[in-house]
Amino acid sequence: MSDIQPTLAISEAQVAFFHENGYLAIDSITTQEEIDRLKGVYDDLFARRAGREDGNQFDLGGVDDGAAQAALPQILNPSRYAPALADTLYKANALAIARQLLGSDAAYGGDHAILKPPHSPAPTPWHQDEAYWSPDLEYRSLSVWMPLQDVDTRSGCMEFVPGSHRLDILEHQSIGGDARIHGLELAVDYDFSKAVACPIPAGGATFHLSTTLHYTSPNASDEPRRAYILVFGAPTKQRATPRRFPWNEEKHTAREERAASARVNAI
Ligand code: NI
Repeated sequence: MSDIQPTLAISEAQVAFFHENGYLAIDSITTQEEIDRLKGVYDDLFARRAGREDGNQFDLGGVDDGAAQAALPQILNPSRYAPALADTLYKANALAIARQLLGSDAAYGGDHAILKPPHSPAPTPWHQDEAYWSPDLEYRSLSVWMPLQDVDTRSGCMEFVPGSHRLDILEHQSIGGDARIHGLELAVDYDFSKAVACPIPAGGATFHLSTTLHYTSPNASDEPRRAYILVFGAPTKQRATPRRFPWNEEKHTAREERAASARVNAI
C-alpha cells in the first residue's frame, strides 16, 4: 500500500463531461518536483533499454528487429524496472480520479511509457485501446496519460473524438497492414473532423475510456515527447455476446518472440 495520499479531486462538472465525451483533460495531476524526478527515471529506462529482453520494451510503430531506430519506443510495465515509479503522487491522484469516474471498485491495472524522439515522423494512429485486449471480456476501464513536458499538436498531445466511447470496437489492423508491427490503427473510414486536441502542460493529464478513439501526432519539436500512462479498471467479467479481434490473431511480432524466449529461459 502506498503512503502517498491523493491531493486532488475533480468537480461534478468534470465527471459529467467525461461521461458525455469519453475523455477529460486537466492541467495538473502532480507537482513539478515529481515531474522533474520522473523525467530522469524515464530517460534512464529508455537509455538502458530496460525490458527489451522480456519483450516489454519494443517499437510500437515498426517491425522492431533492433536494427533500425525505433519509430515509437514503448515500455510496458516500466515500474517493474524502476521501483521509483511504483509509488508516486501521480498514481495516488490518478487512482482517486479513476474512482470518481469509474466507481469505487476501480483498481490500478498497470503502466506504460511511450516516447517520441525529437523530430520523429510517426503518429500514433487513431485507435481504441480495447482493440489490443482480449475480446472475451467486458471492461470498465480508463487510461490516464501524463506528459513529462508541455505538449501541443506539434509535439504529440492527445486528440480524441468526443462521444466515440459509445461505439463498439471498430475494425483495426496492425499499422500499415503489417502483422509484424505491434501498434494498431483503425482499418475503417471514419470522420475525424470533430476530433479535439488536448494541449496540456507538463504534469497535466488526460483521461479516456478503453473505447474512446484517440491519436497523437508526430513529434515535430526539438524535445523528446515523454508520455507516462497508467491504466485503471473495475473487475472484468466474461462477455455475454462473443466477439473476435482477428487483427490480434494475425499479429506476429519480434516482441512476442523475445517474451516467449525470456519465459523459456526463466524455467
Ligand atoms: Ni491508446
